[in-house]
Amino acid sequence: MRVLIVGSGGREHALAWKLAQSPGLEKLYCAPGNPGISRVAECVDIAADDIANLKKWALQEKIELTIVGPEAPLVLGLTDHFQADGLKVFGPDSRGARLEGSKVWAKEKMKQWGIPSPAFAVFDNFDRARSHLSRFYGGPVVIKADGLAAGKGVTVASGPSEAEQALYDIMIEQKFGEAGNRVVIENCLSGEEVSVLAVTDGKKLAFLPSSQDHKAIGEGDKGPNTGGMGAYSPAPIYSGELARRTEEQVFRPLLKGFNDLGIDFRGVIYAGLMVSKEEFNVLEFNVRFGDPEAQALIPRMQSDLLPLLAAAAAGDLGGLQVEWKNDPAVCVVMASKGYPGSYEKGILIEGIEQAEQSGAGKVAVFHAGTAVKNECLVTAGGRVLGVTAWDSDLPGALDRVYYACDQIKFEGAYFRRDIAHRALQH
Ligand code: GLY
Repeated sequence: MRVLIVGSGGREHALAWKLAQSPGLEKLYCAPGNPGISRVAECVDIAADDIANLKKWALQEKIELTIVGPEAPLVLGLTDHFQADGLKVFGPDSRGARLEGSKVWAKEKMKQWGIPSPAFAVFDNFDRARSHLSRFYGGPVVIKADGLAAGKGVTVASGPSEAEQALYDIMIEQKFGEAGNRVVIENCLSGEEVSVLAVTDGKKLAFLPSSQDHKAIGEGDKGPNTGGMGAYSPAPIYSGELARRTEEQVFRPLLKGFNDLGIDFRGVIYAGLMVSKEEFNVLEFNVRFGDPEAQALIPRMQSDLLPLLAAAAAGDLGGLQVEWKNDPAVCVVMASKGYPGSYEKGILIEGIEQAEQSGAGKVAVFHAGTAVKNECLVTAGGRVLGVTAWDSDLPGALDRVYYACDQIKFEGAYFRRDIAHRALQH
């Protein structure tokens, strides 16, 4: 099969790494890809959101399956445009992608379809939104820009002044442009977050093992949120009973709701859950693989990834059985100094080969923000690399992953040393 992956991050490198091992693969391309991906796929210099040129190229190269990594091309309608010309896509059309593209739409549908989710209110006026904050009696509150904001549109405010600042930035300063024309103000819940992903053909579901992201920049989950500083799988808090309830109370009503609206969702649904002793709630839905979750999940897959994604894109998962390894996996994100604020680019990276060799086949280094300059590998983003290791138990995987991280050097390299701290406590 001739396959195109759209995207350029660690998630896309993990997908490419696994697909490159598939016996059914004839040729793998990635647009635009990155230097790590270029080791397993041919990179094509077309931006992930340049839908017209991607489609022209895919038709010309007779691409049989396109797998979309990030959310933006899906929200922009890549799938609609590709399907109109008979091209198969793993990833929902623009109607299905609203689940991630509009927080207001997602919240309203969760309420309508009875999916457990925190209480909320929607505002398109700054003064009215600000007045609403008094209802939280000085306590924490969550502010969300309605549209896509490159993962930066959600603020968990510890009190009213932080919440008001977030509203001001979104609605008055228009930090995220039109994505901030409306905001969701949501109750802040406590507990432990879990990422639950399922591949779907629109009717059937193939669940991936659970995983947990670490969004804060600092150890102990302190400091501002990032795109994700590390992930591990499985998440011990996600019990069999919770999995059963999540399927019944979250994924089934969601698919039924899509079905009632005539939305044929072919791709992956990501539910971000908040779990406490008494209850669980959906904090967010995404319509693509999580990043860095995918970098911890994909190495745990025993089965071939290509037939699963191809079957979902074709609209029939059939009786496909997906096998997973028992070994836990941990991904540690190595970031540029200053991230998630401003950071320098173009810094020399060394030691990736040593890191990979240190793992005896149980370490993979996925590239996220890297580039080649004067034939040297250099930093080119905030999240630079995702280092993943797996082993027969979590302490073994942690030893392996941190040993590998310590082999990799670039000036100012930063990574959290406490990834999977919650799992160790369970
Ligand atoms: N790890 C969070 C996300 O992919 O949105």
